[in-house]
Amino acid sequence: MQIGVLGSGMVGQSIGGKLVELGHAVKVGTREPQKLAEWLGKVGGNASAASPAEAAAFGEIVFNCTNGVGSLEALQMAGEENLNGKILIDISNPLDFSQGFPPTLSVCNNDSLGEQIQRTYPAVKVVKTLNTMNTNLMVNPALVPGEHDVFVSGNDAEAKATVTNILKDWFGWQSVIDLGDITTARATEMLMPLWLRLYGVFQNANFNYKIVRG
Ligand SMILES: NC(=O)c1ccc[n+]([C@@H]2O[C@H](COP(=O)([O-])OP(=O)(O)OC[C@H]3O[C@@H](n4cnc5c(N)ncnc54)[C@H](OP(=O)(O)O)[C@@H]3O)[C@@H](O)[C@H]2O)c1
Repeated sequence: MQIGVLGSGMVGQSIGGKLVELGHAVKVGTREPQKLAEWLGKVGGNASAASPAEAAAFGEIVFNCTNGVGSLEALQMAGEENLNGKILIDISNPLDFSQGFPPTLSVCNNDSLGEQIQRTYPAVKVVKTLNTMNTNLMVNPALVPGEHDVFVSGNDAEAKATVTNILKDWFGWQSVIDLGDITTARATEMLMPLWLRLYGVFQNANFNYKIVRG
């Protein structure tokens, strides 16, 4: 499959690397394609770096792995015409580090970045997922023993089913919890303040949420 990955940070590289390993053709969209030369040499396979617009046009499915406060700008660069009708797997979190650490949420409570993206691009099938864990765990859940959870939020049931299959069959997730429509992205984005404090306690990012039911 042809997949576009927007964002060249840790998440873009780990998602992109895993997709290449799975045999997909991956185009990473970045404002500075030349900075990915070393990474491209390392991952090999069918990977390339290009502008956000070229990566979005290339992708049959597109991952949003851009910085949360820059996501709307990044998607604007990707171009509505290159995204319309496609599934956008949104991994971003609206973390604002402008006042230092810990970051605050640039949008929360009665709105979310997932919703802002969906409102801006009504013809794009936005599915928020994988934003509640460290990037290495996203594509290798076995880094944490046992069964633990990943959430999906989105308005399009078919798109969520496709993303659920991607999470299970490609990335190895066993438990995928469908929280509901895109407004439920508020809940997972607002887990970030807790995630950051847990990271402060554990000093290690290999942990995840596990929902235990009675
Ligand atoms: N790191 C994690 O473990 C983790 C876990 C869960 C969720 N997330 C979320 O995943 C996303 C990516 O995280 P990250 O750690 O890989 O890196 P990051 O530093 O948050 O984001 C880096 C990417 O965002 C792009 N970007 C930033 N501002 C932009 C702007 N104004 N316009 C266009 N593009 C912009 C950059 O694009 P260029 O390549 O063009 O410079 C860069 O590729 C974030 O939203 C983060 O909150 C991260």
